[in-house]
Amino acid sequence: MFDPADVGFLADPYPAFALLRALGPVHDHPSLGTPVAVSHAACSALLRGRDLGRIWADAEPTAEFAAFNLLHRNSLLEREGEPHHRLRAAVAGAFNRGHTARLEPWVRGLAGRLVDDLAAGIAADGSADVIAVLAAALPVEVIAELLGVPEPERSALRGWSNAIVTMYEPDPGLERKAAAERASAEFVAALRELAEHRRRHPGEDLVSDLVAAGIDADELVGTAALLLMAGHEATVNVIGNGVLALLRHPAQWDVLATAPLGPAVEELIRYDPPLQLFERTAVVDTEVAGHPVPAGTRIAALLGAAAHDPQVFERPDELDVTRAHNPHLGFGLGVHYCLGAPLARLEVAAALDALRTRLPGLALAAEPERRPDFVMRGLRTLPVTA
Ligand code: HEM
Repeated sequence: MFDPADVGFLADPYPAFALLRALGPVHDHPSLGTPVAVSHAACSALLRGRDLGRIWADAEPTAEFAAFNLLHRNSLLEREGEPHHRLRAAVAGAFNRGHTARLEPWVRGLAGRLVDDLAAGIAADGSADVIAVLAAALPVEVIAELLGVPEPERSALRGWSNAIVTMYEPDPGLERKAAAERASAEFVAALRELAEHRRRHPGEDLVSDLVAAGIDADELVGTAALLLMAGHEATVNVIGNGVLALLRHPAQWDVLATAPLGPAVEELIRYDPPLQLFERTAVVDTEVAGHPVPAGTRIAALLGAAAHDPQVFERPDELDVTRAHNPHLGFGLGVHYCLGAPLARLEVAAALDALRTRLPGLALAAEPERRPDFVMRGLRTLPVTA
């Protein structure tokens, strides 16, 4: 069984997933403490399963994680049934008011300016970092704009989010847990202030829409926090992992020069997914792909393993930016399917378009540095030249 903290595994987890898939669709994983689904069919069944849900359990000791637990207990992602339905309808309703279309020209302009900054860095120093200049900057600016987050909270957002999401890793350690709670407390305070401000001065932003939808104060904080975190963490890593994949396959980078961007975006999400693991808890005794899951126990879907399943994808380990049949699970499936998928697709396409037109000779300048995390798979640095 793989070790999610092993550096060799993190560098390339896909051979280990292939070995597991060959042995069967679901396996017990002693160190994760849950069984893991590794085939596309088993992961799909798990995400769609009506007998399985996202059942939130407070981080313990609860007194030490008051703000972290408040954010998650009230987030639509961690709810099921009526509250999930109600909050999801409020967020979907707000998105349907045309925010993604409204932001499109602004997103394209921003991606262009950031790639110009990257080009200026390369011209000045010989190389520049795709993560710092483009991948981390673009999604944070976009989601902060969408929710109308002002400075200085806008600049603090990435730090808060990075600190909080380490709690989703299998074994974050005491220090990272304490940092996650401190970040959560600052985040909650900032969001309460923002919500109060929007109550008095409504604007064009999504927080104003959520205030108008009448959801309660804690739910508003939890849902705004989810949007701000889910709305950028994965997108940062799709751009980073995706550009790395393209630069490791220069022939595919050349194909992308004239290929449609839609299929390329889907392929980058499939080839090296930014989110590797999602859990569900059985609400009654049930099974996934024949594996018994008693009521109250957890089971995980390994999206990276599903993404390379040869039962579903032809030549699964090949990067093919023109791939036509690509039913990847990168945005999830079922009732929790990603609400931000259209926005994420727009952002990744805008970043790729700016890169291919403004820096067609893009190449790796040095080996990238990987973040030492399994669930949120991404890079710390990606030095490029042109
Ligand atoms: C490429 C980038 C993205 C990826 C790969 C991604 C992936 C996912 C996945 C896999 C889920 C389902 C989790 C589960 O089933 O347990 C999800 C849910 C969600 N995502 Fe995304 N996401 C991305 C970008 C975004 C953006 C930009 C936003 C917001 C603007 C967003 C908002 C949400 C929300 C609100 C949910 C919860 C939906 C619910 O519980 O009903 N995501 N996302």
